[in-house]
Amino acid sequence: MRSLNQYQSFFQYYLSENAFMQSPSELYEPVNYILSLGGKRLRPLLALMGCELFDTAIEKALPIAMSVEIFHNFTLLHDDIMDSAPLRRGKPTVHMQYNVNTGILSGDVMLIYAYDFLMKIKDENISSKLIKIFNKMAIEVCEGQQYDMNFEIRNNVTINEYLKMIELKTAVLLAAAFQMGALVGGASEAEAQHLYEFGRNVGMAFQIQDDILDTYGDPEKFGKKVGGDIVQNKKTYLVLKTYQLANSSQQADLQQLMNTITADEVQKIEAVKSIFNDLNIREEAEKTMTNYLNIAFQHIDDTPLSIERKNYLKTWANELMMRSN
Ligand code: IPE
Ligand code: IPE
Ligand code: MG
Ligand code: MG
Ligand code: MG
Repeated sequence: MRSLNQYQSFFQYYLSENAFMQSPSELYEPVNYILSLGGKRLRPLLALMGCELFDTAIEKALPIAMSVEIFHNFTLLHDDIMDSAPLRRGKPTVHMQYNVNTGILSGDVMLIYAYDFLMKIKDENISSKLIKIFNKMAIEVCEGQQYDMNFEIRNNVTINEYLKMIELKTAVLLAAAFQMGALVGGASEAEAQHLYEFGRNVGMAFQIQDDILDTYGDPEKFGKKVGGDIVQNKKTYLVLKTYQLANSSQQADLQQLMNTITADEVQKIEAVKSIFNDLNIREEAEKTMTNYLNIAFQHIDDTPLSIERKNYLKTWANELMMRSN
């Protein structure tokens, strides 16, 4: 396997070679804007690593890497509109920098380009499988996003409903990126399925961590608005675990805070956070992340990969869990 930096620069080069220079610039400039803000590039990394596990010619997986990163960024453009988010990767979100219509349409064209890159894989045997995996994943992401919005206005969301929602909105894309990369590299269906499960379980831990960072992240490093989920009444893992562990007076306080539209966002964030703190909710969420990581590792252990490769993937996932953005 290569170093993470090598995968990143490999992808970065392909991305800059494929910059969107077409007209009209009003449509494509926001696409270049969001893609140039970087981010962690996790999904392309997964696609390239997935390929390399079976074939060192990782350039074969570059179109997959590009497809999943463009798709991811498309979801962010629309997600930031839906979540009224002002900041992304430390810069104004596309709808704030430009306007909402731009966020919608530049997002739409990115979705189409995500397919365009997927279609660069010419091997017919693999390409029909890729389209099937991609379509299933993309439909699931939309379903997850709808549940996420439905839950904003519901007070009786269960942890199981939440887990299904994050599986759909977040985990399946990480899973599919890894699986598609592996298939392009020549993995068998069974091997690719274990990698899918690894990606899915890492993705579950990843979204729970995203929820933690949304409340506890360092505003200097996080790149998004800290406290945004609380303001939007998102039913995050932190909120749902609080309802589960709280006494009736804490439950009533949280309920009241989450049903109130307040002009004083800072006060609302602090009040909700203080209930979380009283119940050690952050630690509870971290325990659940660790459980998902362990399931992910079992799937890696179930593959015939070498010990070195298994350890490489586990180390990568462990380090991901220490991120600050
Ligand atoms: C943000 O994804 C959306 C979630 C699924 C939580 P990332 O945290 O991977 O965002 P970037 O691409 O690194 O900015
Ligand atoms: C991420 O959910 C899911 C998708 C973008 C599909 P969030 O709304 O939590 O992501 P962030 O926190 O805005 O990155
Ligand atoms: Mg969001
Ligand atoms: Mg969202
Ligand atoms: Mg979030």
